[in-house]
Amino acid sequence: MRDFNETNITQAVIERFANTPDPRLKQLVTRLVAHLHDYLREVEPSFPEWLAAIQFLTRAGQISNETRQEFILLSDTLGVSMLVDAINHRMPAGATETTVLGPFHVAGAPLVESGADISFGAVGEPLYIEGRVTSNTGAPLPGAMIDIWHSDQDGFYDVQRPELDHPAARARILAGADGRFEVRTIMPAAYPIPHDGPVGEMLQATKRHPWRPAHVHFMIAQPGYETLVTHLFASDSDYLDSDAVFGVKNTLIRDFIRRDAGPLPDGTMVPGPWRHLQFEFGLKPGS
Ligand code: BEZ
Ligand code: FE
Repeated sequence: MRDFNETNITQAVIERFANTPDPRLKQLVTRLVAHLHDYLREVEPSFPEWLAAIQFLTRAGQISNETRQEFILLSDTLGVSMLVDAINHRMPAGATETTVLGPFHVAGAPLVESGADISFGAVGEPLYIEGRVTSNTGAPLPGAMIDIWHSDQDGFYDVQRPELDHPAARARILAGADGRFEVRTIMPAAYPIPHDGPVGEMLQATKRHPWRPAHVHFMIAQPGYETLVTHLFASDSDYLDSDAVFGVKNTLIRDFIRRDAGPLPDGTMVPGPWRHLQFEFGLKPGS
């Protein structure tokens, strides 16, 4: 076939994929072509606009490396990550809602005992976290592996501080016999997502801000259950209604309760006020 025009080119491209053996791949590519062509017919890009888009994506590739993933950041800021997350995590009653993983998870964080101080020197207002891991029907899940990580009081993760030669404000812990775990750490702060690259240019050009509300990340794994990737957001944080990556859900907003100076739940005396976070995590059965 020849003589393609504004309308018949779409079907011609789709037919070029007719021999794709994998039906799912065929659906993914042909529907992508259909929607992409419809988008272009709607917005009618000029050649300079088309080139700017190509250059934007090229810069996103160029700035990406093992630790910087600009395309995931683009997916996050366009709401794509949370849409894919929602499609794949239609949760039953009693299961904790999910949210984005983010770029600051590090596999193999220190494995600590319940009650350990996981700040590892990070400075901030003390925070005591008491959690419990259960199935969505409330059965305790002893032995669940809980991965926790969060920013420091300045909004930086340990991996963003080149002067640090050890992990801080991150650890793994195993749930005890009744599914309970507890750790001492410090209050996280709101922080901007990395915005020194093309995604930052996009946010600036569209007058969007790069901030995320203060939160603690959790990844909880237990055989026979879907791994839960979520955060708990501090109810008194800024940006709960304008999270740059659309990750906030009402069920994940918690009071990080202000407590006066005195003993922490483990008996440790702290000289000033501290915060207390308690939460029960419900895991969805599955693989
Ligand atoms: C985070 O919460 O660590 C995060 C999530 C998405 C983009 C950037 C950071
Ligand atoms: Fe985060």
